Amino acid sequence: MPAAQPAESAAKPKHRRAELTFKHNAAHGRHGWLRLTPAYSVKVVDDILARRDGDLRVLDPFSGTGTTPLCAAMRGHAALAVDLNPFLVWFGNAKVATYDATTLREVEECAREVSRLAGTRSAPRVPEPPLHNIQRWWPPRALDFLCSLMGTIGSRAPTEGAVRDLLLVAFCRTLIRLSNAAFNHQSMSFRDDNKGAQGTLFGPEDATFFRMQFRSDIDFVLCGAGQNPRQRASIVFGDARAVDKHVDGVFDLLITSPPYPNRMSYIRELRPYMYWLGYLHDAREAGELDWKAIGGTWGVATSRVASWSKQAASFLPEYLTTLLDQIRSSDAKSGAVLASYVGKYFEDMWSHLQSVVRLVRTGGELHYVVGNSKFYDIVVPVERVYRDMLLRAGATKVEIEPLRKRNSKKELVEFDVVARV
Ligand SMILES: C[S@@+](CC[C@H](N)C(=O)[O-])C[C@H]1O[C@@H](n2cnc3c(N)ncnc32)[C@H](O)[C@@H]1O
Repeated sequence: MPAAQPAESAAKPKHRRAELTFKHNAAHGRHGWLRLTPAYSVKVVDDILARRDGDLRVLDPFSGTGTTPLCAAMRGHAALAVDLNPFLVWFGNAKVATYDATTLREVEECAREVSRLAGTRSAPRVPEPPLHNIQRWWPPRALDFLCSLMGTIGSRAPTEGAVRDLLLVAFCRTLIRLSNAAFNHQSMSFRDDNKGAQGTLFGPEDATFFRMQFRSDIDFVLCGAGQNPRQRASIVFGDARAVDKHVDGVFDLLITSPPYPNRMSYIRELRPYMYWLGYLHDAREAGELDWKAIGGTWGVATSRVASWSKQAASFLPEYLTTLLDQIRSSDAKSGAVLASYVGKYFEDMWSHLQSVVRLVRTGGELHYVVGNSKFYDIVVPVERVYRDMLLRAGATKVEIEPLRKRNSKKELVEFDVVARV
């Protein structure tokens, strides 16, 4: 049996509401540009920001789709965020940028030309991206159109800058709308009828339909781009395990949702965008990137996790070491790998927490939105480990607030772990 669970894990959350997940973001301008499961809700971040006065300097060491920096900048706070996925760094910066009226007009004009030409015989084309099993992702005509849409953007848009960025954001929307990806579950799956996300069997008029899709995606992106943030925000490329190497100065507030120890690989859902936009070229690169990500399990990351052993300098609370032993002995086949996975996850988070606490000024606050995890019948009290690690890293007070029940299993809850320094 697992060690006695802390009182916090048993506390009942107030909500189980869609507005506390990424689904809520779709109707919120730039927040809805791309639907990515790892994103947390605008509402969670906004509620935290609404409780604070004055001009703040806000940090998010796990930027993802840039929810925190965008919320902060929209409310007039300066924000800085870090992520080690280069696609998300690009996308986050496109989301928080300021766009003037001239740029928006240029995007309009360029998009008009692109959508006139894409899908025609004379349109330039790019080769299909080297995404494994690509026919699972797109019906043939949709794939053909996307090659010509990308080729046309490449030939008509400036080689870099805001116009290109906004066209590419719209391209990302279109590629996922035309794909077989389905988002009915916590993570992504595939429709098996090869009809594309619209549920339509594409016919002879498909090029017209595809162009209309791109036009509507451009309109959606332009609508969000027209609402500029009130302050500057940016996302830098870096590793949160040594976040102090990537950012300067001190911060008033940290709001983040780090990866959870739940074996979810962000790379899985991000692959189509990353291959089309040239951030990934083969499966090995995808595995290498996920190996660098905390909690990653894609490709080579899984086999490397298996050989993890506890570092002398790490801090794992005693009850966690006991839980790891229980996970290890629960299943002869996969128990050892899972225990290594969880152990490595917390060791990485310990490096992160040590490097980040000193970046928050005295009197400042840190919010870690995290979920607990279950392996076999063993619940890992992730929120309690965060609390203990934050205290050990220098926080003076830590509280655990349950936010919502997660859908999949009834013991699984999302918490806001709030630390003061
Ligand atoms: C749960 S997601 C963050 C989602 C974000 N709050 C949002 O709303 O989109 C966690 C992010 O942490 C990033 N990440 C994982 N390991 C990292 C590391 N060592 N350094 C920096 N970022 C990392 C992943 O790439 C992913 O984007």
